[in-house]
Amino acid sequence: MHADSRYHAVYEGWKADPEAFWAEEAQKLHWFKQPDRIFDPALGVYGRWFVGGETNTCFNCLDRQIAAGRGTEKALIYDSVMSGQKRVYTYDEVLTEVQAIAAVLQNLGVGKGDRVVIYMPMVAEATFSMLACARLGAIHSVVFGGFAAHELATRLDDSQAKVVISASCGLEPGRVVAYKPLLDQAIDMARFKPEACLILQRDQLHAPLRYEHGDIDFAQAVEAEKVKGTQVPCVPVLATDPLYVLYTSGTTGQPKGVVRDNGGHMVALRWSMENFFGVKPGETFWAASDIGWVVGHSYIVYGPLLAGNASVIFEGKPVGTPDAGTYWRIVQDHDVKVMFTAPTAFRAIRRDDGEGEHIARYDTSGLRALFLAGERADTETIKWAERMLKVPVIDHWWQTETGWPVAGNPVGLGLMPVKYGSPTRPMPGYDLQVVDDDGHALPPNTLGNIVLKLPLPPGCLVSFWNADERFRSTCLEEFPGYYKTADAGLVDEDGYVFVMARTDDIINCAGHRLSTGAMEEVCAMHPDVAECAVIGVADPLKGQIPCGFMVLKSKVERDEALIASEIVDLVRNEIGPVAAFRTVMVVKRLPKTRSGKVLRGTMQKIADGLPWKMPATIDDPVILDEITEILQKHGYCEQHKAMAG
Ligand code: COA
Ligand code: AMP
Repeated sequence: MHADSRYHAVYEGWKADPEAFWAEEAQKLHWFKQPDRIFDPALGVYGRWFVGGETNTCFNCLDRQIAAGRGTEKALIYDSVMSGQKRVYTYDEVLTEVQAIAAVLQNLGVGKGDRVVIYMPMVAEATFSMLACARLGAIHSVVFGGFAAHELATRLDDSQAKVVISASCGLEPGRVVAYKPLLDQAIDMARFKPEACLILQRDQLHAPLRYEHGDIDFAQAVEAEKVKGTQVPCVPVLATDPLYVLYTSGTTGQPKGVVRDNGGHMVALRWSMENFFGVKPGETFWAASDIGWVVGHSYIVYGPLLAGNASVIFEGKPVGTPDAGTYWRIVQDHDVKVMFTAPTAFRAIRRDDGEGEHIARYDTSGLRALFLAGERADTETIKWAERMLKVPVIDHWWQTETGWPVAGNPVGLGLMPVKYGSPTRPMPGYDLQVVDDDGHALPPNTLGNIVLKLPLPPGCLVSFWNADERFRSTCLEEFPGYYKTADAGLVDEDGYVFVMARTDDIINCAGHRLSTGAMEEVCAMHPDVAECAVIGVADPLKGQIPCGFMVLKSKVERDEALIASEIVDLVRNEIGPVAAFRTVMVVKRLPKTRSGKVLRGTMQKIADGLPWKMPATIDDPVILDEITEILQKHGYCEQHKAMAG
C-alpha cells in the first residue's frame, strides 16, 4: 500500500511546472472560452489563475454531468434525523430545482455579481440555492445557522446582499431554532437592507411573513417556476469572477469575507476528489459538516458534484439523534465510500460508544476511508476510529482561506506511511515552509510559523471581500512572498508536517472556528466590565472551549455570579450559541507585560496544566498566582494536564 504511492511523482511534477499541471487539470472541466493565460502574476493581490477563461461552476456541477449521461444518477441525498425527512435527488432533479430557484432570483432582479445571503439550516434547498446563484453568476454568502442576529447583520452590511434566502427554523436537539426573528432583527440592525427575503417554511415552525418588507414564500415561488418549466441557462462568468464570499473569524469582531473565484475553485476541487479523497464518479461521498462552513461549501456541495459523485446532506448530530450509531446508519443506507468529519464528532461518538456496539449494528463494509479535519486530531481518537472501522483514518489540515487540503495523506494517489500527530505532507500546489518570526527558513523539527510560498494554488482565496488591503496586511505582509497560515508547527526530516497551534486568537471549538478577540469585544460591552481576556482552554470533547476573565469596574457592587451570567447571555445573543461561551471568572487584575500586553498565552498554559515560564517582561508576577488560584478553584490546571498534552 505504501511503496507505490504516486504522491512523490505527482508533487515533483507539479513543482517542476505548476502552470502545466493546472492547465492539464483545467481540461477536465468545461469552459465556454479557454483561458488566455493559466496564471498571470500581474493581476489581483498575488496573481490570478485561468485569466480570460469563461466558465460556469453550476454548469460544471450539473449540466456537464447530465451531458455525460449522469442525469439519472444520484447527486444529492438528503437525510434529516431531526425531521425524519429523506429524499434522493438525481442530477436531473437537482437541475430542475436549481433552475426554478434561479428563475425566482432572476425575477427579483438578481444577476451576475449580485450578492445573495443564504441563512439556512441543513436542508436540500440550501444547496440548490447555492447552485442557483452560481448559475446566474451571482455571489452567494452562506451564514451558519448557529450565528446570532448581530453576526448576520455584519455579513448583510459587508456583502450588501440584494436578496436573502432563509428558512423558518433550524432543528437542534431539544429545541426548534426560529430563524425568522433572527433574520428580521438582523435586517433591522443592518445599514444595508436586502430588497427581498425568500423564506422556506418548514413544518416544525411556520414564520409569519412580512410581505410589506419583501418576504416571499420560497416554496410557492419555486413551485410556480417549476410549473412554468422555466429554463435558466448558465451565465458565462470569468474564471476570475467570484463564486462566493464566506465570512470567517478574524482577529476582531469584523469577520473576513474570504473570496473564492470560479475557475481555480472548480479545478482544485475536482482534482482533490479524485486524487486526494480517492472517490470515483458515481460513488457516494459524505462530509458530515454544515454548509455554513468551508467544508460544506467544498465537500458537501461543489467538490462531489464537480467530480460526478453523490453527496449526503445530513441534518443531525453524531450523538443523541437518536444515538451514536447515526453516522453508521447513514454510511450503510447510502453506501458511503468515503467520509469526512471533525475529530470532535468522533470524540463524541467514542464517549457514547467506546466499545463500538453501535458500529457493529450496521454494515459499514463499503466505507474505504475516513478523513478528519477542522481541528487537531488527537492520536487516541484516530487510533480508536481505525480499530473500530478498520479503514484508514486520515488527518488532513487546511483552512477556510485555502478551501481545500494543504497537507494530507492522499488516498487517490496511494497512501504514504502514517505518522500519528501529523497530517502527512503538502499537496501539489502548496510549497509549505516553516520560518522564524523574521521569516528565515528553519531546519527540520523546529517549531515556527507555517507559511505557503506565493502564489497560492487555484482554489485558495483570492482576497477578502472589498478588502484587498486587509488581506495584504493580515496574510501577506509579515512574511513577504508568503501567505501566513497563522498556524504554528514544524516539518520533520521526512517532510511530514505537524500543526501544533494557532499563532493568533482563533480557537477551534467543536470543529467551529471562533475568535476569542471577537468574544472579548462583546464582553467589554457589558457596563460593569473594565477589561477582559478570553482564552481557549482544553476540553475533552470540543478540543477547546472559550474561558473569559473579567475585571470589573471599581465601583461595581452587584453580585459577581449575576454579572457572569449576564456576560454569558451577551455573548450568546451577540455571537450565537455556537460560541459555547459558558465560563466566566471575575478576577482583580489581568497579567500583563510592562508594555500592557495581556499574557493570554501564559494564562492558557496555566489553565491547561502545561509547563510555562515566567515571562521576562511581566509587570507583576503576583497576578499570575491569583489567576492560577482562581483557575484551580474552577477545576482547571491539574485536571486539564492530560487532555491538553
Ligand atoms: N443552528 C442553531 N444553533 C446551533 C447550530 C445551528 N446550525 N449548531 C450548533 N448550534 C447550537 C447548539 O444547539 C448548541 O446550543 P446550546 O448551547 O443551546 O446547547 C450550541 O450551538 C453549541 O453547539 P455545538 O458546538 O454543536 O455543541 P453541542 O454540545 O450541541 O454538540 C457535538 C457537541 C460534538 C455533538 C457537536 O459539536 C458536533 O457535532 N461537532 C462536530 C462539528 C462539525 O462537524 N463541524 C464541521 C467542521 S468539519
Ligand atoms: P477553518 O477555517 O474553520 O477550517 O479552521 C482552520 C484552522 O483549524 C486551521 O488554521 C488550524 O488551526 C485548524 N485545523 C484544521 N485542520 C487541522 C488539523 N488537521 N490539524 C490541526 N489543526 C487543524
